[in-house]
Amino acid sequence: MPRAKTVYRCAECGATAPQWTGWCPACEASGTLSEEPADRPGSRFASGGGASGALGAPSTPVPLVEAIGDGGGDPVPTGFGELDRVLGGGLVPGSVTLVGGEPGIGKSTLLLQALASMAAGGGACLYVSAEESARQVALRGERLGVTAPNLWLVAETVLPHVLDHVGTVAPEVLIVDSVQTIHDPDLSSAPGSVAQVRGCAHRLVVEAKRRSMTTILVGHVTKDGALAGPRVLEHLVDTVLSFEGERHHALRLMRPVKHRFGGTHELGLFEMGEAGLAGVPDPSALFLADRQPGVAGSIVAPVLDGQRPLLVEVQALVVPSQAPMPRRTAQGVDSGRLAQALAVLERHAGIVLGRSEVHVAVAGGVRVPEPGVDLAVAMAVASAATDRPVPAGLVACGEVGLGGELRQVGRTERRLAEAARLGFDAAVVPHSAPEPPDGLAVARATTLRLALVAAGILGGGGPAARSARRDRQAATHPAGAAAGSAPSGTGRVAGGGSSGNDGGGAPPSRPVRDPDFGFDGIEGATGRALRAVRPGERASHAP
Ligand code: TYD
Ligand code: MG
Repeated sequence: MPRAKTVYRCAECGATAPQWTGWCPACEASGTLSEEPADRPGSRFASGGGASGALGAPSTPVPLVEAIGDGGGDPVPTGFGELDRVLGGGLVPGSVTLVGGEPGIGKSTLLLQALASMAAGGGACLYVSAEESARQVALRGERLGVTAPNLWLVAETVLPHVLDHVGTVAPEVLIVDSVQTIHDPDLSSAPGSVAQVRGCAHRLVVEAKRRSMTTILVGHVTKDGALAGPRVLEHLVDTVLSFEGERHHALRLMRPVKHRFGGTHELGLFEMGEAGLAGVPDPSALFLADRQPGVAGSIVAPVLDGQRPLLVEVQALVVPSQAPMPRRTAQGVDSGRLAQALAVLERHAGIVLGRSEVHVAVAGGVRVPEPGVDLAVAMAVASAATDRPVPAGLVACGEVGLGGELRQVGRTERRLAEAARLGFDAAVVPHSAPEPPDGLAVARATTLRLALVAAGILGGGGPAARSARRDRQAATHPAGAAAGSAPSGTGRVAGGGSSGNDGGGAPPSRPVRDPDFGFDGIEGATGRALRAVRPGERASHAP
């Protein structure tokens, strides 16, 4: 008897190899190949279980111009504002959306809520639970206050049965939770394998298009953040959404990874609560709610997630350390960018942190992978190191170059507008930044060192230093550059002094001539903002 033919399939990318190797020849993932029976041509969708019906009747060609504007492609709102924002208005009938996320992040909760809201709109909706029992889903439904009578629920893991239920209920919207836990007995590979996931997803996509049934598939992500069998599923579906968040925070983020009916720049924000997920229409206010202004090491940065401007608080803590390699931790920002910021602080601003532990975190469990947060990270560390708080109404935004120069980042205008909307009235920005909105004074700084001077963290500039000088304490203070009214911090500020040449240890990128160089000493700034922020400093601003 001839031996059954087998192939080796990669669990990551779905590619096949005729022989087993330690690495996938396509994606180079290690140890992901497993043996499975080779596909027999034509067997997959042509045999058994009514599968031939999945092929459907052949399509009829139509002139494209006639297909345009037939209204079939208009998105239908889900009734969940933040989800609709990500989808560009709602779900297009007949479209297939894959929602990926780590286990426990809230995919089932979100989709049950969205389905309940769509069912309340009239059409029948079917929720296929292939992971939890009907009882478990019902309990969740009770917790979420689901009342729509035409929301149907079935616990099912066998694909042909799922298709039968679809035929019976004829839903407008179908959810399969999850696509990795249903299996098709027509396919010879094991449940959960890439071939199964791909085969099941394919048949559901065919069914969705045939019935013009909006379909949402739930997918789990592997530990390194990729959807299991990601590439094979991503090209099958119309839309891929990624649902993310820190398990221990209430905040959840929804990002489009692929979207055939719109852009992939929108960001949806949700908060997990006792009664499920609720949209967060004003995330900046949420992130800043528990902020304690006037604490050294804290600064607010307007960052961009997709198209959406968000204000986040960047916090830094600097403490002395005897360790040969003092600890550095970065939460929410890239650790490489933090290391870079520390190097630039030392080389171009004279703030030496070789004997200090440095911890940086973005409050609220947000991740900020973009360079626009560089300046805030560097300023937060410098503020913590010198123990000089920045003014409460100040934001900072810009990329820090390795030469210590500040560079403009995308959509600075939108970022500054968001800062102004939330009542911030001063911003430190790169020299080339656009005009700020009304009510926001900007300090344009060419270098990180000048930005630190502008915010009063370094040298003679800034309100803290000025008030200190007025009190004639500067000359007697042991650490000249840290001559704020607060005690000097743990970071060593090399050289410097209130003469204005604050970066004495490192070659200054541009000499600061005016000892009063500060927020209002930089082109474009009025100084009005800092007076408004710190009314107590008013006298110190007087010439
Ligand atoms: P779930 O939707 O089951 O996650 P997933 O489908 O992504 O695996 O959500 C699980 C978590 O959400 C669980 O830890 C409990 C929590 N949760 C709430 O906090 N509030 C709620 O109202 C619900 C339904 C769940
Ligand atoms: Mg789930």
